[in-house]
Amino acid sequence: MQPGAGAKMGAKAGHPEVLGMLVVLWLGAVTVTYLLWQVPRSPTWGRLHQEEEPSRSREWGSSPAWEPRGGRAPQPQPDSCRLVLVESTPQDLPFAAGSPSAQPLAQAWLQLLDTAQESVHVASYYWSLTGNDIGVNDSSSQPGETLLRKLQQLLDRNVSLAVATSCPTLARNSTDLRDLANRGAQVRHVPLGRLTRGVLHSKFWVVDGRHVYMGSANMDWRSLTQVKELGAIIYNCSRLARDLDKTFQTYWVLGAPQAVLPRHWPWNLSAHINQLQPFRARFDGVPTTAYFSASPPQLCPHGRTRDLDALLAVIRAARQFIYASVMEFFPTTRFRRPVRYWPVLDNALREAALQRGVRVRLLVSCGLNTDPRMFPYLRSLQAFSNPQAGVSVDVKVFIVPVGNHSNIPFSRVNHCKFMVTEKAAYVGTSNWSEDYFSSTSGVGLVVSQRAPSAQPGVTTVQEQLRQLFERDWSSRYAVGLDGEAQGQDCVWRG
Ligand SMILES: *[C@@H]1O[C@H](CO)[C@@H](O)[C@H](O)[C@H]1NC(C)=O
Ligand SMILES: *[C@@H]1O[C@H](CO)[C@@H](O)[C@H](O)[C@H]1NC(C)=O
Ligand SMILES: *[C@@H]1O[C@H](CO)[C@@H](O)[C@H](O)[C@H]1NC(C)=O
Ligand SMILES: *[C@@H]1O[C@H](CO)[C@@H](O)[C@H](O)[C@H]1NC(C)=O
Ligand SMILES: *[C@@H]1O[C@H](CO)[C@@H](O)[C@H](O)[C@H]1NC(C)=O
Ligand SMILES: *[C@@H]1O[C@H](CO)[C@@H](O)[C@H](O)[C@H]1NC(C)=O
Ligand SMILES: *[C@@H]1O[C@H](CO)[C@@H](O)[C@H](O)[C@H]1NC(C)=O
Repeated sequence: MQPGAGAKMGAKAGHPEVLGMLVVLWLGAVTVTYLLWQVPRSPTWGRLHQEEEPSRSREWGSSPAWEPRGGRAPQPQPDSCRLVLVESTPQDLPFAAGSPSAQPLAQAWLQLLDTAQESVHVASYYWSLTGNDIGVNDSSSQPGETLLRKLQQLLDRNVSLAVATSCPTLARNSTDLRDLANRGAQVRHVPLGRLTRGVLHSKFWVVDGRHVYMGSANMDWRSLTQVKELGAIIYNCSRLARDLDKTFQTYWVLGAPQAVLPRHWPWNLSAHINQLQPFRARFDGVPTTAYFSASPPQLCPHGRTRDLDALLAVIRAARQFIYASVMEFFPTTRFRRPVRYWPVLDNALREAALQRGVRVRLLVSCGLNTDPRMFPYLRSLQAFSNPQAGVSVDVKVFIVPVGNHSNIPFSRVNHCKFMVTEKAAYVGTSNWSEDYFSSTSGVGLVVSQRAPSAQPGVTTVQEQLRQLFERDWSSRYAVGLDGEAQGQDCVWRG
């Protein structure tokens, strides 16, 4: 309610008593709104919100997706958060000996599922974990098939599995979700096309309300052996896990029959961890701040930082460098017609380079399915570079050689979506174009560590991510945009 609206109604009513009553009501409403607004904004530093205390019975017990099968009692454990970067490197994509690397995704996923005791929640775009799902017979589908078996075993040992997935699906012939549902998994197909004109494009897991995985990889065997991916796992961190699970719950709500987008999300899905009030703790002894963002705005309950705002905040805070690795970069809409100009991220990068002297590097994927209409935008950004004026912007494309894997469709690409500055690491699930922030669901993780001077050997997460970016950027698979450089057509001839 707005002050003007109250005054107008009062004037219309005419009687002074009615006017007085309306003023009192309006002041009351303002006070209540103010108090409600204040609740989630109170400081979270070093203090638990009641809602996020690890007592499962209080709030979370009521949610069906949280119940372990067979009703075993949960065993609360203290938090000792730990973050591990994970990646998937396509077969036959060797980096120079001694290059830095993150933990292999396939191994990390299996280990994470081994720790599951009660529940696994998976937010996913589509599923195709077996070669059969897409009609391909190739030995590199084996890790995906192993993962599917591991998920089946979870259900056999009474761990509950809840899956939210996009509807309609890209992998119509896949039998994975039917197999899992037959063994007791709860599966909800979220019609974001109908609700927001987007797709459920998020990719994350919440395990036992304590551990999370998030990153670029789909529930697809190719993400384990044929596509370059990057993600993060946070272990033993129930407050962050429960925060990310609230985003899972938004999908769960929208996957119910006849669901509509709520005008206001329930308060129990409000975020108390966000850009303004990040989670603060020591991760392996290293002071860390972290929060999860979400998109689109319609799927952000009160207090949730929007994914685009998280990206912009990381870009704007940078003073030395911004290195970004994304599959696509379009300063436009991608799917909505008529096409609309959307220079939000493009402008933010140029502004950082020009006004703050930040060194900007953008690494974009290039493969057989790359839309060539992207190149003029990339060349435009590159053309902004002006070393004499102290403006440093560089763009390269990353080409995964197809080699003898041409039998595998939609693979051999750099599917990573991350950004790193001297201050923070951002790991996301969204391509860089408008639709991913306005209608398609995604999540982002912003994390920042401060190396304690007492522990010289510590490598912060942003430093680890910078090293991975530099490895890719300086590898022979990264090709500049200038002139006749090989790979302009995204076919590796090296
Ligand atoms: C949130 O509250 C609603 C009732 O408003 C309840 O049905 C739901 O289970 C709660 N969700 C969680 C995650 O606790
Ligand atoms: C799983 O739960 C069912 C029903 O509660 C029970 O009969 C079965 O023994 C449990 N299995 C395991 C492996 O815990
Ligand atoms: C898959 O290929 C292998 C050899 O590469 C062959 O032995 C096997 O029969 C094939 N399977 C199917 C289902 O075609
Ligand atoms: C599903 O399988 C049918 C028959 O094998 C095939 O024609 C079709 O292209 C497949 N669809 C997808 C989406 O893979
Ligand atoms: C998580 O905590 C448990 C119990 O404190 C510990 O055994 C386990 O090693 C921890 N996991 C990781 C990955 O640190
Ligand atoms: C595919 O190519 C790699 C090297 O790029 C080679 O090691 C491997 O043997 C080849 N596999 C087949 C089946 O030709
Ligand atoms: C990004 O864009 C590409 C090309 O449009 C599309 O195939 C892909 O599904 C999008 N999403 C992700 C996660 O890369």
